[in-house]
Amino acid sequence: MNDLIKLYKKVISEEEGKLEEINKDYWRLGYHLMPPVGWLNDPNGLCEFKGLYHVFYQYAPTNADGGLKFWGHYTTKDFINWTKHDVAIYPDQVFDLHGVFSGSSFIEDGKMHCYYTGTVMREGYNDNYEVEGMEQNTILVTSKDGFTFSDKKVLLTNDNYPNMSWHVRDPKVWKEDNNYYMVLGGRSEKGEGCILLYTSKDKENWNYLNTIKTNEKFGYMWECPDLFNINGDTILITCPQGAPQDGVDIVNVHQCGYFVIEGDLTGQDYKFSNFIPLDRGFDMYAPQSFIDSKGRRILIGWLSISDTPFGYPTKEIGWNHCLSIPRELDFKDGRLIQKPLSELVNLRDEEFQFKVVNGKIDKELFLDKYEMIMDFENSPYEVFINLKKDINVSYVNEDKVFKLSFGKAGYGRDERKVKIEELKDLRIFIDTSSIEIFINGGSEVFSSRVFPSKEDKGINIYGENLSIDGVIYSLKDFNYSKS
Ligand code: FRU
Repeated sequence: MNDLIKLYKKVISEEEGKLEEINKDYWRLGYHLMPPVGWLNDPNGLCEFKGLYHVFYQYAPTNADGGLKFWGHYTTKDFINWTKHDVAIYPDQVFDLHGVFSGSSFIEDGKMHCYYTGTVMREGYNDNYEVEGMEQNTILVTSKDGFTFSDKKVLLTNDNYPNMSWHVRDPKVWKEDNNYYMVLGGRSEKGEGCILLYTSKDKENWNYLNTIKTNEKFGYMWECPDLFNINGDTILITCPQGAPQDGVDIVNVHQCGYFVIEGDLTGQDYKFSNFIPLDRGFDMYAPQSFIDSKGRRILIGWLSISDTPFGYPTKEIGWNHCLSIPRELDFKDGRLIQKPLSELVNLRDEEFQFKVVNGKIDKELFLDKYEMIMDFENSPYEVFINLKKDINVSYVNEDKVFKLSFGKAGYGRDERKVKIEELKDLRIFIDTSSIEIFINGGSEVFSSRVFPSKEDKGINIYGENLSIDGVIYSLKDFNYSKS
């Protein structure tokens, strides 16, 4: 172990010594992965390997406001019982010294291959799109057990990214027809968002194939690309920065969504659909998907967005952010469908059946962490749901608008909405400081952080002529053990 890693380990273990104190915070979530201490952002290297699901993540243990990035590490067999491991990848080399940035895992021949971006800030660095100032190296590190890692190997440097600014990062690797492919998110020299496509025969030597972008510029930088085939369609999920606000689909400071792509991505003959938001809430970014041994495409995102103006009060307490619940992806009628991963039913604890009769709920319920399911036979005339005093969810048939809005607990998050022709069903997951709403079987999703006070646990549902049966399950917390 090199001296730098020894030093990092010491500092991290001192920081993580604050865990017990930090865990007293009411807003620590029950069933969402969080940083033990400090800061978390993107999920990284998601995979199933030798019987375990691995969730790595961008971890800055020393600073709840962001800082030097490591790959933090959790594993699970069942998405309920989790093991927390030591940091998996440290920024300990001249080519990744200022951050082990985001990337993916690719599994083959009993080996985990982790591809990530090693970031180095040169003297005089500034965060614009000039070519000079920063290095973003594409690095490979492998593991036979998922816990101990080989030496790092630099595969690509900024010299290998044609006509790009220094912003090129977040490799995602997959195999197709005996070839390996990699996409990297980027910002061209001209300041256009795009992705770079590479191919390889051996997972180590990569050849540039193409720069893929929309006909018209769509933002200045595309982060965290994830290109995959689902039910015969090609989807590019990515997070464009700088796309012009349109008040409908482009409402957050940076976007998280996808394009459906037709044609040959290795040439110029391809066509992008419109950009479709993956999520309509205030907090969802940098999602990554992978296929597990059951053949499911599982997606996990970061429940935040960089540069967002909204408040995250837990950073004063020494921790910040969490990941979304895992979702299984499907693709129907031109849209990605997201369903909470089936394992999450094992979080269910007590069951509360309720009815809304003549517009009023028949029970007084006070709960903290729960899942709420409602089926509407016909689109209701109107439905209003008030949770924990400050969370409002509504649908009004007259204008067909589904809305999520927050009071003070939103810390600046006001209102997000989408038009829905018919409201058929709702599945809402509430944790101590998050909400994830799956509408019509997951064809629209709203994910957000929200910070209600501990005392506010009320649940109210009302609406003119509203008559429905529903069910609420209180949810257990994840179990954590330490490796
Ligand atoms: C997205 C992102 C990635 C980058 C990482 C750094 O949130 O900016 O592009 O690799 O975070 O933490």
